[in-house]
Amino acid sequence: MSQPASANNASNDRIEQFKLLTQCAPGTEMGKLLRKFWHPVALSRSLEAGQAKSLRILGEDLTLYRGASGKAHLIGGRCAHRRSVLNTGKIIGEEIRCHYHGWQYNGTGQCTRRPAEKDPGLPNVRIAGYPVHEYFGLVFAWMGEGPAPEFDLPRRAAFEKPGALVVALEEHWDCNWFQQIENSLDAVHVSFAHQGFWVGPFGEAVSEDIPDLSYAETDAGLEQTALRPGATVSVRKSNWNFPNNNYINVPGLTKDAPWIDISVFAVPNDDENGTRFFLWSTQSTTPEADRHFLDHFAKFGDYQAPAHHDELFHKRIYPDPEDILVGLTFAQDYVAVRGQGRIADREDELLGISDMGIVTLRRLFWRELGLQREGKPTKQWKRLAVSTVAPPEKKKETAGA
Ligand code: FES
Ligand SMILES: [Fe+2]
Repeated sequence: MSQPASANNASNDRIEQFKLLTQCAPGTEMGKLLRKFWHPVALSRSLEAGQAKSLRILGEDLTLYRGASGKAHLIGGRCAHRRSVLNTGKIIGEEIRCHYHGWQYNGTGQCTRRPAEKDPGLPNVRIAGYPVHEYFGLVFAWMGEGPAPEFDLPRRAAFEKPGALVVALEEHWDCNWFQQIENSLDAVHVSFAHQGFWVGPFGEAVSEDIPDLSYAETDAGLEQTALRPGATVSVRKSNWNFPNNNYINVPGLTKDAPWIDISVFAVPNDDENGTRFFLWSTQSTTPEADRHFLDHFAKFGDYQAPAHHDELFHKRIYPDPEDILVGLTFAQDYVAVRGQGRIADREDELLGISDMGIVTLRRLFWRELGLQREGKPTKQWKRLAVSTVAPPEKKKETAGA
């Protein structure tokens, strides 16, 4: 039986509303909103002075290179001349020269040389060029219009405190970024997905208990509270920061080790790929414990769940059981979130009361996108002056999703 026209219209409206959340390219509404924030785009250690690599961020092809000084520069992915990729070019001082015919660009994307042209005058040729800022092993970029605001980051205090050991990681997922942030506001998944395969210290601490949930908007984003009275972590709060950062903490590598602060950013590469950039931080204790922490990340920190897609989805082969922190948690989340498809089919989902965080998150974005569409100011998000997340020392109250 065919649907009446009004039902079809409502369904089309729903589809369009969901597309607003998942499309990130230049010219899209979300693409414009996301470009009002600094985003991590690469690991600092992925690039040495004199090297270049290609990136895809917010649907744009880009070239990240380090000049001879070691400074990172982010410019467009293709040469203005005949559109060859620039990451194959040669670094000359702080500039990059196209491999094909030698057109040369500085770190703002300005063309500075066209060596084969007889005309000594240089037309104003420019490709994209974005400011970058390196912080604790991550290269951040400002891809918005106009001058970049001062670099800032939610939860800086956790990483900048004296004696903190900080490790930066990245993980590429072959699905849309909005699924990744919905997962952060879905505290129920911890009671299921993180009990799957085998149970690590994180799953143990939170337990299989179904939480009572509440959500509140803050100056920085959303505060999520999950109550599990019978669990080791009976009150679990997280401060989710608009538009794509979540603060989590998880147990350390041993029972006595301090808990680990995690800041995770879900950055869209394009509509079907997203990279999660992480800062993991713990307090330095003894040289042996510090070495154990750093060695663990050196050994397991490069785990990429999509490289194990078929093993995880079809063969039930799970990450190395020695890796109780990184691979297990990443794989558990990946199977859940990538299991929704490259772009989740939201039109056909059936939400319940336990999806309150998902609904709250979507409404927040639709509100901000609506303000932007009407030409009104969007909310000026600030870092929280005081975190509402309890310190990890108090094992009864801690953070994350
Ligand atoms: S394509 Fe780059 S110089 Fe010709
Ligand atoms: Fe998770």
